[in-house]
Amino acid sequence: MQNFNKNDIYIVTGASSGIGAKIVELLNDNGATIVAIARNESKMIAIRKQCSYPENIFIEINDLVSDITNLPEYIKNLKDKYGKFKGIVHSAGIIDFTPLRMLDPKRIKEVFDINFYVPIMLTKGFSDKRCNVGEGASIVFISSIAAKTCEKAMLAYSSSKAALIAAAKVISRELSSQKIRVNTLCPGDIETEMTKKLEEMRIGHTNKYPWGYGKTEDVANFVMYLLSEESRWITGQVYTIDCGSI
Ligand SMILES: NC(=O)c1ccc[n+]([C@@H]2O[C@H](COP(=O)([O-])OP(=O)(O)OC[C@H]3O[C@@H](n4cnc5c(N)ncnc54)[C@H](OP(=O)(O)O)[C@@H]3O)[C@@H](O)[C@H]2O)c1
Repeated sequence: MQNFNKNDIYIVTGASSGIGAKIVELLNDNGATIVAIARNESKMIAIRKQCSYPENIFIEINDLVSDITNLPEYIKNLKDKYGKFKGIVHSAGIIDFTPLRMLDPKRIKEVFDINFYVPIMLTKGFSDKRCNVGEGASIVFISSIAAKTCEKAMLAYSSSKAALIAAAKVISRELSSQKIRVNTLCPGDIETEMTKKLEEMRIGHTNKYPWGYGKTEDVANFVMYLLSEESRWITGQVYTIDCGSI
């Protein structure tokens, strides 16, 4: 069990659903303060109600793709409101199934906006020394095994998640002098709204996983470790969480 305290303030994107919501819950159970970002306010209010210390969860409604260029300034404003951040977890993302013959630059850009540009620009803001606590701070990107499996019709999604892995490695090197750690997780199929969409389109992959789909806590528990001091010597790494499927 990792221990955090109220002064440890973490930003979590994608906080209204699935993996991000579970990360909010676990961080809160373990005593941290969370700035939870997503578009759906009612879902975040419902999640906060179920948490152990709802007073330590601050909801920020934001369509993160609406002004990507100004996301560093957005982080600076959040710092002025809440204080310096100990970490950020990038869970907001969208899935896409468009075969090459139907892809156009507009769709590729929509997928890259939220899956790649948003986490990078938020990290640019976070890495400003005025916005983070310095030594002990930790950044976690949620990529996907799709970056490695590269299945049909997943060009935009897989490419966006592969780009994120490369960017995270570069950022880990650039931030090592500040002693900020940067790591990436690549989950396989986890039971969330996202995988419901796969099932609806009859492209679920349950049979790839000997123990069935993963649960949100399978990813969130790893995130907790990567945010905590217990992983103090771990940076620049990419971890696959997929029940051994690849
Ligand atoms: N589930 C899986 O099997 C799986 C596997 C590998 C990797 N992943 C990755 O894990 C992350 C979380 O996935 P999930 O399954 O938890 O997905 P999810 O349940 O569909 O949740 C996606 C989250 O992203 C937020 N989001 C999407 N667009 C946004 C925007 N423009 N602005 C702000 N927030 C936005 C959504 O919030 P609002 O709609 O409220 O804005 C929601 O909270 C994603 O990056 C995904 O690619 C998932």
